[in-house]
Amino acid sequence: MNDREPDIKWPIVERLRAANHVVVLSGAGTSAESGIPTFRDAMTGLWAKFDPMQLATPEAFAADPELVTRWYDWRREKCWSCQPNAGHVALVEMEKHVLARGGKFTLVTQNVDRLHQRAGSQRVLELHGTLFEWRCVSCSKSQDVGGEPFASYPPLCDCGGARRPGVVWFGESLPMVQLSQGRNEAGSCDLFFTVGTSAVVYPAAGLIDAAIAGKPMTVEVNPDATPASSRVDHALRASASVLQRLVDAAFGEPSDA
Ligand code: APR
Repeated sequence: MNDREPDIKWPIVERLRAANHVVVLSGAGTSAESGIPTFRDAMTGLWAKFDPMQLATPEAFAADPELVTRWYDWRREKCWSCQPNAGHVALVEMEKHVLARGGKFTLVTQNVDRLHQRAGSQRVLELHGTLFEWRCVSCSKSQDVGGEPFASYPPLCDCGGARRPGVVWFGESLPMVQLSQGRNEAGSCDLFFTVGTSAVVYPAAGLIDAAIAGKPMTVEVNPDATPASSRVDHALRASASVLQRLVDAAFGEPSDA
């Protein structure tokens, strides 16, 4: 185990070439180079005086649906105006190469920004939902809202009910299917990456525990140390874009494979 490995490591490259099943857990740091502020970053402008922890709850929505939906709409707009970065693109390339070899690739994300899908990732399990699907609290119908502006706050469903963002709020359960699938696959794959996550928010961070218990090769990509750093096989102290170097080293230059 290594606490600090600033460069890519050949054992990772070799495993990536040969792996039958690769699982990636991504977090907010994966989108940092796209300019998306994390929850923990200070909010700006009108929102500077609000605490995100006080807005991201079912209670806050019940108490003030206009305030909460305006805040989520602000975040949706910010994400919509950002573009996928080199880390997102590298994961698309990785998936293509693994699939082309007949392998399996699973990207499990805590991000609600949809940048993995916009970059072109095919198989993405969203553990914390998304800012781009809003669900009616009366009839439960979900709608993909893309970057369309809303006509009212909260936005309304055809049935007249209020719509809420399709994200998992504090105090709510994660989607069971995605969570158990993510855990099972983390535990049974042969190469596991944890990228851009602080590894402290459970149950998502439990995928790292499942991977370590399942004994695939485990790799962390993060410029800072986390509680996972000393437990994984390789801790790459780097930003998510280092993945492009790994992919290039394993499979050659970027291709349309
Ligand atoms: N590349 C890779 N990692 C980065 C980069 C980068 N360019 N920049 C920052 N990081 C790392 C930070 O060092 C930190 O460890 O990304 C991590 C981001 O941590 P968090 O903000 O805690 O994000 P995440 O782990 O996804 O949080 C989990 O908590 O905020 C809630 O529900 C929200 O899904 C989120 C969950």
